[in-house]
Amino acid sequence: MDATTTQRIKDNIAFEAARTAPPPGFPRLPDIPAGRYVDPHFLDLEKQRLWKRSWLYAGHSSQAAEPGSWFLMRQSGTPILVVRDLNGAFRAFYNTCRHRGGPLVTDESGQGRGFVCSYHGWAYALDGQLKSVRDKRDFVDLDFACRSLLPVRCETLGSWIFINEDPDAPALRDSLGPMAEELQQFDLDNLMLVHSRSYDVPCHVKVLLDVFLEVYHLKSIHEDTADRFLDHRGMTATLWPNGHSRMITPNRRPDWVDPGTRGMPEIPSVTEIPRLNNVSYHIFPNVVMPPTATGIPMLVFWPVTANTMRIDCHWFGPKVPAEALNPLWDTRIKNFERILFEDLRYAGKIQESVEGPGFTGLALNYQERRIYHWHAEADRRMGPDHVPAALRVAQVLDDWIEQS
Ligand code: FES
Ligand SMILES: [Fe+2]
Repeated sequence: MDATTTQRIKDNIAFEAARTAPPPGFPRLPDIPAGRYVDPHFLDLEKQRLWKRSWLYAGHSSQAAEPGSWFLMRQSGTPILVVRDLNGAFRAFYNTCRHRGGPLVTDESGQGRGFVCSYHGWAYALDGQLKSVRDKRDFVDLDFACRSLLPVRCETLGSWIFINEDPDAPALRDSLGPMAEELQQFDLDNLMLVHSRSYDVPCHVKVLLDVFLEVYHLKSIHEDTADRFLDHRGMTATLWPNGHSRMITPNRRPDWVDPGTRGMPEIPSVTEIPRLNNVSYHIFPNVVMPPTATGIPMLVFWPVTANTMRIDCHWFGPKVPAEALNPLWDTRIKNFERILFEDLRYAGKIQESVEGPGFTGLALNYQERRIYHWHAEADRRMGPDHVPAALRVAQVLDDWIEQS
């Protein structure tokens, strides 16, 4: 972050801490309809028109480190094969053979010079081209050129691989806009994947995701943890185009340092604001990351059913010999999980409550506006005409989206 941005953020934190009302002109946010959280048909609509048209985190480059290596990404609902081709570039395909739809691979990861379907042995190159067919003599006019594996968009941000099932989606970096540039300070090209763990949570994906888009709940849910060191009333949020956003929450004491980070190697290029505050990025629709100089936790939220979801927690850090760091990382991750578990435990209770007739919708305030921003972007992406009128949200935040 340059000096101008740094100063503007400091000014914004001071403004937020001192204000006695939302800033002039901030609109009253209409209630978010309850059906957007509990109606399984609405979730189906989101899966088809939003999740399948968004850039989704697929994995880290080390999961396919060598040319010819690959892994299966299953979280988006359709198994997708992510491959490193012979030139070192990442590609993605549906894991579905063009003969009779058999799964091309049945392991979770592997390495080879191509793929041979496990059903009748059709063979494909790493770029997806059909190369050979068993008993070719039995097919009449089989056109190999039309039988390549169906590709899925695949792009990278540093060492992170994203996929998008929408062939017409804007490029990942264009979609991310100013966030892509800002994230470069975390040396994304050279991050090591330190740790991954997943949790199945009995709630709608938005019930848990929303928790991570605001700090209004800190005083209640994290009274003995995060609320002790974070001052939620100084939080400044930035809404970016395409549903992305950033939230910066100052530490209560300017000299506070997370004890779990002591002794850990740092990413030297990280600037003042993320070093001295809690900065949390949201990549629409489902990635939340509060990066620090010593490491980056990435939370990825996946819908399963209308009342179940999965959260993947990945940790990235500067590249160093992993063995030397294990005890330090253990402490760091445990500290983070203590806070995470407070949210996970509560999410199931929220779900139980919102499924009852007492839940009529969300009444959001100014400091919860990132949640409204999510819903407004969801409708834009799905196409408002596809959203049932009773479940639509009004586009009242357009003037509050920062364009650059
Ligand atoms: S389904 Fe793959 S070779 Fe038949
Ligand atoms: Fe929380």
